[in-house]
Amino acid sequence: MAHNIEVELTSNKKKKPVTEQLEFGKYFTDHMFIMDYDGEQGWHQPRIIPYQPLLLDPAAKVFHYGQTVFEGLKAYRTPDGRTVLFRPQKNFQRLNLSNDRLSIPAVDEEFALEALKQLLVIDQDWIPEEQGTSLYIRPFVIATQPSLGASTSTHYQFIIIMSPVGSYYAEGIHPVKIHVESDYVRAVRGGVGMAKTAGNYAASLRAQDTAAASGYAQVLWLDGVHRKYIEEVGSMNVFFKINGTVVTPALNGSILDGVTRNSILQLVRSWNIPCEERQISIDELYEAHKNGTLEEAWGTGTAAVISPVGELNWNNERLVIHGGQTGELSSKLYNTLTGIQRGELKDEFGWLV
Ligand code: COI
Repeated sequence: MAHNIEVELTSNKKKKPVTEQLEFGKYFTDHMFIMDYDGEQGWHQPRIIPYQPLLLDPAAKVFHYGQTVFEGLKAYRTPDGRTVLFRPQKNFQRLNLSNDRLSIPAVDEEFALEALKQLLVIDQDWIPEEQGTSLYIRPFVIATQPSLGASTSTHYQFIIIMSPVGSYYAEGIHPVKIHVESDYVRAVRGGVGMAKTAGNYAASLRAQDTAAASGYAQVLWLDGVHRKYIEEVGSMNVFFKINGTVVTPALNGSILDGVTRNSILQLVRSWNIPCEERQISIDELYEAHKNGTLEEAWGTGTAAVISPVGELNWNNERLVIHGGQTGELSSKLYNTLTGIQRGELKDEFGWLV
């Protein structure tokens, strides 16, 4: 495809929020990237334009059948003034895995990264610098063909928007209470659980709201078949430290292949801590808690990075983990990963771009 990105700069720059106002995903930068797809031209007319509402036909398939995928990644400003992205190639690879699952045409991964870099140069003043802050980047694809036929769209838009963010949770890194979900499931093998697509998140909201009403921040998802094996926590991957070994559910088709999950596995292995990707049942966790070997639990995701779990509620039994406090390994992982991301620690794995 032609690599010429047309640029239209805004004549009306927005006022930037101060750090204290940085609620997750509330403010957006001055510009956005957009390109279109149709069967004849493929992906075409890449352009950077002032951030603005989209004009879509009410019959656009995305509104009716959810044919859409998204990604989330972050940019940081390093102490020596560079702008860096954390493992962006992995996000664009995964975007195409999600595209494939949702029957959306692939985007050129290298070109998408190039477009993001150009957008970042234009809006670089929007990258906040304080600890705990970053520029969250949301690439996404929507099916735009105006047609109520439940079939693959002929037209799409690929868009990148960016939002300066503080901590995902208002409280920052701080243990959360989690309800073990036994009524609803998030995804099943063969479904779309491994894709980053809107339906997975829509399907999770009822359970999340019910858990919130009884004081729980999120739910722990069990598998949809046996209702027994642990899958994810809220919208994050989940890890446990049991008797000195780090354990996380193996990728099985219904679990998202998280970039933070993958990075945590590499860090833990480089520290020679035993580490397993395998099935973990809720009974095993319960037993481990009973015999005192459930040492830590935490969620991992781009938005929150590490979210320690202080308590699990399973069938009205409260499993308090690490005294409800953040564990040593969770803290070390958070500090190391965010240190690398911010360019404050050595990037031994070559993760920064
Ligand atoms: C994450 O980064 O943890 C996510 O899943 C994105 C979230 C904002 C839905």
